[in-house]
Amino acid sequence: MNDYVRRMTAAVNLEILRGIDPQKGTLEAAMHYALAVPGKRLRPLLFLALLDARRQEAERFIGLASALEIIHTYSLIHDDLPAMDNDDLRRGLPTLHKKFNEALALLAGDTLLTFAFEKIAAAPLAAEKIVAIIGLVTRCIGKDGMAQGQALDLEFKGEAQAIAAIHRLKTAELIKGSLLAAAQVIDLNAAEQRLLARAGIAIGLGFQLADDLLDITGDEQKVGKKLHKDKSNQSPNAVLYLGLPAVKAKIAEYHREALALVQELKIDFPPFLSLLENMLFRSQ
Ligand code: IPE
Ligand code: IPE
Ligand code: MG
Ligand code: MG
Ligand code: MG
Repeated sequence: MNDYVRRMTAAVNLEILRGIDPQKGTLEAAMHYALAVPGKRLRPLLFLALLDARRQEAERFIGLASALEIIHTYSLIHDDLPAMDNDDLRRGLPTLHKKFNEALALLAGDTLLTFAFEKIAAAPLAAEKIVAIIGLVTRCIGKDGMAQGQALDLEFKGEAQAIAAIHRLKTAELIKGSLLAAAQVIDLNAAEQRLLARAGIAIGLGFQLADDLLDITGDEQKVGKKLHKDKSNQSPNAVLYLGLPAVKAKIAEYHREALALVQELKIDFPPFLSLLENMLFRSQ
């Protein structure tokens, strides 16, 4: 972990719990549990590094950054439920429904999603920017984004040609949304936003392929979740359908594509570039 990542991760870890009192009852205790567990915080890090790349004071927007992580955390809580992937371990600790119960996992997930929008609404930005961010983030995570991707993931019956579209929806859309939220803060024009959106999709697709790869070849200690589950769950894991060499080649291809787009946008901030690399060639 480099200094930049360490500093920003610490800031996100503090902010993310602000306003949640675990003593207030089981709902807030469950929300607190899910957020206090150390995740990689990649979506806020992407957002913050893009602000810093354009010399915005990124830390002023730590609330907005945290909202992205809170949305992601909600998606993981629901993803782990027995009705979905049925996982017991997340970020090296028991999943929320194991620690508490399934009903609370549903409610904590729902509440984190709404709590995230409370944070977005409080960002130190003009009202029209906040509305634009709410619009784009909701599009990325709703019926044409992450939620739809999760529905298609569950319905997957082994059609290899459907995998990329599922990955795009369930994973890449929120990563794209994190970058586009930053684009609002740093005032990118429409053409730049289109390039950035394409970069977000390439990063997200490569990131989900890396996740699929870890399920097959990863180290459980490092990854912090139970591995070798995608096959028995009949999940759209690209390695199972396209093979290891093809998936590794595709990850490298997405990395090249993302770098080219980022270069076109003249983003040359080293922490942003190393974040991209670490997201696609990761061991955890
Ligand atoms: C896991 O996301 C789920 C996917 C979208 C692949 P992360 O790998 O970012 O998980 P955490 O947040 O670090 O736990
Ligand atoms: C999760 O994909 C995507 C979302 C949570 C939206 P996976 O099901 O592959 O993620 P892990 O492997 O459980 O982290
Ligand atoms: Mg899943
Ligand atoms: Mg899962
Ligand atoms: Mg996975």
